[in-house]
Amino acid sequence: MSKPLTIADLKTLARRRVPKMFFDYADSGAWTEGTYRANEEDFSRIKLRQRVLVDMTNRSLETTMIGEKASMPVALAPTGMTGMQHADGEMLAAKAAEEFGIPFTLSTMSICSIEDVAAVTTKPFWFQLYVMKDRGFIERLIGRAKAAKCSALVVTADLQILGQRHKDIRNGLSAPPKPTLNAALQLITRPRWCLEMLGTKRRGFGNIVGHASNVSDLSSLGAWTAEQFDPKLSWDDIRWIKDLWGGKMIIKGILDEEDARAAADTGADAIIVSNHGGRQLDGAPSSISMLPKIVEAVGDRIEVHVDGGIRSGQDVLKAVALGARGTHIGRPFLYGLGAMGKDGVTTALEIIRNELDITMALCGKRDIQTIDRNILANAPF
Ligand code: GLV
Repeated sequence: MSKPLTIADLKTLARRRVPKMFFDYADSGAWTEGTYRANEEDFSRIKLRQRVLVDMTNRSLETTMIGEKASMPVALAPTGMTGMQHADGEMLAAKAAEEFGIPFTLSTMSICSIEDVAAVTTKPFWFQLYVMKDRGFIERLIGRAKAAKCSALVVTADLQILGQRHKDIRNGLSAPPKPTLNAALQLITRPRWCLEMLGTKRRGFGNIVGHASNVSDLSSLGAWTAEQFDPKLSWDDIRWIKDLWGGKMIIKGILDEEDARAAADTGADAIIVSNHGGRQLDGAPSSISMLPKIVEAVGDRIEVHVDGGIRSGQDVLKAVALGARGTHIGRPFLYGLGAMGKDGVTTALEIIRNELDITMALCGKRDIQTIDRNILANAPF
């Protein structure tokens, strides 16, 4: 393929280069995948106002998210097993984000550890927290994020239990892959990936292995989640985490106005309107369709961000128009990473920036700070 021009191009390349179980892990939603599809489809229902003959020089996409400068209103979302899309994936993506001037969020369920990412970056990154029953482990994990000078804790609220993604079960997903015929057949057709993976020692859950005790199967995300994640997690726990952390906090996974009010009451710095990329409650509405209602409910008290379904710079602009201070992208950067490593992440960000910039200009605007509903020809939500 010639130079990728769209996120869809990167996805095509990633599908060819990444073993099926890991490509599918990224590209899947829960059950019927209806919410996964709705996240993308609802963006395409929003139409933009074409404006002409206005000065389009000196455009700026610069913004801030939770008070941190960003070259555009986009952050890399926390994604599990990023280091299985490409060897050392989290370290590569973090470096690409740092060079681009946008936040990188490391998942608790990453392959490279907090310390690995800290060692290859010079600016603070964000750390995403899953809360396990073992509170001693959580205290140590938060301590490690502090020691690494992470500048925000992103607490995921919508994954106390794991939504079922059929492909993961069919593919026998695990990190590292188990020595089964099914896995061997998936790996043998991806020799380049295998070679690169043999060249790194990071092939398991780096934040967990060697740090958590009493774990029966550490290679399976499903088994680990069912056994260790805390299904009793409550708003009181969020307050406990906030005190323990003592820094900026973002609550991810809010899709309802009542929950948004409760999140704002905690004194967190931001919320991310999210249905976990359609990977948790299949049948929930798309993130973008819920964004305006949530902004209306709490936008004057807390920063509101959004993720889910963003596949272009146009989608970023639409989200900003509907009140998002920031957007978070997961799959677009994972496709870039799987396709071309660090250069692929940079390519994904360049594609999004270029689309965002040109779209903003053709809507007659020069500064992302001035974007509001006025640029929309119609907004179905
Ligand atoms: C974990 O965050 C997942 O969605 O698999």
